[in-house]
Amino acid sequence: MTWNFSEINQDVDKDIESVVDQKTLEDFRIKYLGRKGLVQKIFASLGTLSKEEKPIVGKDSNILKNRLSSLLEQKQKEIANKKSNAGKTKLDVSLPGVSFASGHTHLISQTIEEICDIFEKLGFIVEEGPEIETEHYNFSALNIPANHPSRDGFDTFYLNAPDPKEKGVNLLLRSHTSPGQIRIMEEHKPPLAVIIPGKVYRPDAVDASHSFMFHQIEGLLIDKDIKFSHLKGLLSAFCKRLFGDKIEMRFRPHFFPFTEPSAEVDISWAQGKKTWLEIMGCGLVHPAVFKAAGYPKGKYTGLAFGLGVERIAMLKYGIKDIRTFYENDDRFLKQF
Ligand code: PHE
Repeated sequence: MTWNFSEINQDVDKDIESVVDQKTLEDFRIKYLGRKGLVQKIFASLGTLSKEEKPIVGKDSNILKNRLSSLLEQKQKEIANKKSNAGKTKLDVSLPGVSFASGHTHLISQTIEEICDIFEKLGFIVEEGPEIETEHYNFSALNIPANHPSRDGFDTFYLNAPDPKEKGVNLLLRSHTSPGQIRIMEEHKPPLAVIIPGKVYRPDAVDASHSFMFHQIEGLLIDKDIKFSHLKGLLSAFCKRLFGDKIEMRFRPHFFPFTEPSAEVDISWAQGKKTWLEIMGCGLVHPAVFKAAGYPKGKYTGLAFGLGVERIAMLKYGIKDIRTFYENDDRFLKQF
């Protein structure tokens, strides 16, 4: 029997293609180099060959055997490599985890949440009003008539857009959250207890303690027989919860057109020299405000307050410059 080596080599080429893992590699080895494999068969047949054929077939079969051995070795390496790479891409529990950069709630939002939370526990609900307001809600309904000097305290950004409801006046960016008082009174009937957080805008020159935009939280409680003592009790309970039992506070008489009597609230830490810091304005709802909201005369009484969120966050966390809240510097934001 003679052997067609070129055909055999073609078969080998085809078979080695389908070797993909340890199992198919072993099948390949057995088929060609095994004890009963093709190479053994060829060697065994040498004895039956003629003198002339023997050295030729002997030489070719040696070439074939060497070729098969090196193919086997090469495939063995390939499979081993594939295995170790596959191990890495699948799962290596010893590798360090991939961490994602995640943001978190801004300190201003945290402070708003904290303050709202305290009032919610006291029975208040949270509502929001629009940032673009009318002169009516921002001023007139709050007993701040046109051309009245008290408007100066609420310097205002006017928009280049006419108020659709009032002739000759433009819309504005609210300069305080107090217009929310009127909107709430119009929508809800007493008794009511609402807080209104939000952004407010004033054309102040920006410095360490002023910003053209800041946050306020308005509070409004309306019922029958609400007295100044309710206001004092409520706000001192609030300050204790926010700043701790050791906080000292005082009510300093003040003027707001929409409350009567009015006061400002100062707080102080009993650390070293005592200094008072103003954190909010407050008072009993002015009868003119009830009138503007369409409430019957003399039926209800109420208390209102408005506090500055940045102020409170600065005091609570020892922040010296209001601008740091808005600069988005990660080194600042990450601390809270
Ligand atoms: N709106 C006032 C301000 O911005 C604060 C205030 C609110 C005062 C409610 C009294 C009652 O200064």
